[in-house]
Amino acid sequence: MKINRHFDEIQDSYLFAEVENRVAAYKKKYPEKSVIKLGIGDVTLPLPPAVVDAGVRAVRELGQSDTFRGYGPYRGYSFLTRAIAEYYARRGIALSEDEVFVSDGAKSDIGNILDLFDSDCTVLVPDPVYPVYVDTNLMQGRKIVYADATEANGFLPLPDESRRVDLIYICSPNNPTGAVYDRAGLKAWVDYALDCGAVILFDAAYEFFVGDARLPRSVYEIEGAERCAVEFCSLSKTAGFTGTRCGYTIVPHALGNLNKMWLRRQSTKFNGVSYAVQRMAEAVFGEEGMAQCAQNVAVYKQNAALISDTLTDMHIYHTGGINAPYIWLKCGMDSWEFFDRLLAKANVVGTPGAGFGRNGEGFFRLTAFNDCQSTAEAMRRFRRFFSA
Ligand code: MLT
Repeated sequence: MKINRHFDEIQDSYLFAEVENRVAAYKKKYPEKSVIKLGIGDVTLPLPPAVVDAGVRAVRELGQSDTFRGYGPYRGYSFLTRAIAEYYARRGIALSEDEVFVSDGAKSDIGNILDLFDSDCTVLVPDPVYPVYVDTNLMQGRKIVYADATEANGFLPLPDESRRVDLIYICSPNNPTGAVYDRAGLKAWVDYALDCGAVILFDAAYEFFVGDARLPRSVYEIEGAERCAVEFCSLSKTAGFTGTRCGYTIVPHALGNLNKMWLRRQSTKFNGVSYAVQRMAEAVFGEEGMAQCAQNVAVYKQNAALISDTLTDMHIYHTGGINAPYIWLKCGMDSWEFFDRLLAKANVVGTPGAGFGRNGEGFFRLTAFNDCQSTAEAMRRFRRFFSA
């Protein structure tokens, strides 16, 4: 048997699986402890009522012979691709419906899109970054070069014109640092990609957290991006779909063959998102759904502000937490050691910066997705932990 040897190049377990294993081991040893999780970015608020109602109606339709549906269209139902195109249109971005592809979430598509690119491509990945970008490329044997995101550049690296690459990952608002590119920053990347003939893989999973109208929520707000960028988005954080699963990917026609190739890839390997979930996703983009999602996101943003204010008060350097659900703090020591100490002494879980790349060492990520009471309690424990 010849196995894919590239798996030897990745860590034995996925970052968040490793965090989960350590927490499970701790809880097994100390079952009486109440552990607060600010680790993986998993939402805690229930689905918006408009979304639930749409799901119930859709399931009822599936139970009637005249409204039953089997396989859906490969791109997604047109009621949803249209709703997504209209969502972009409301933000001044013109998309045709067949540039929108419905998926079960951004993570899958971010990995799957690599089917369209040669294994010889050189890939540029910011460091630190969401580990999926690195792991999926390593699994397929691609060469990765890194763009250093550091305190010095506010965790928003700009292109190095002296090197040529084929694929560029950008996540803004960023996971894990919460930093957000302004228009000038994104334009620098778009210009660079156009100059190199590279494709930007733009992860917009956290766009709904951007409250500052001056900051771009989509790469297509930048002129020329439709000729060099694919955009991935997810309803996980916008609408609480981490368990429900639905996202979408924009592959503009201006990218040449990629739109056709992506349809070919999806129709071969993916049978789509269930009808009921697509109806629920459609409801997210309706007036009521949008307002209810905004209410939930406002709660998470309140948590983020509380975390950020607590850290400011304690004079701990951090980024994020304003237009993003993540807070990236300087822990000033080996980040896995900090993780273990924080878990043992404060019973609070976060994510070690080292899990996001070399430049993440010495940093630690907290999420704003827990409920208000637990977040407030975690911050009280944080204060005690640091003053001990
Ligand atoms: C995270 O915590 O970074 C994300 O929730 C993980 C994911 O979206 O897969």
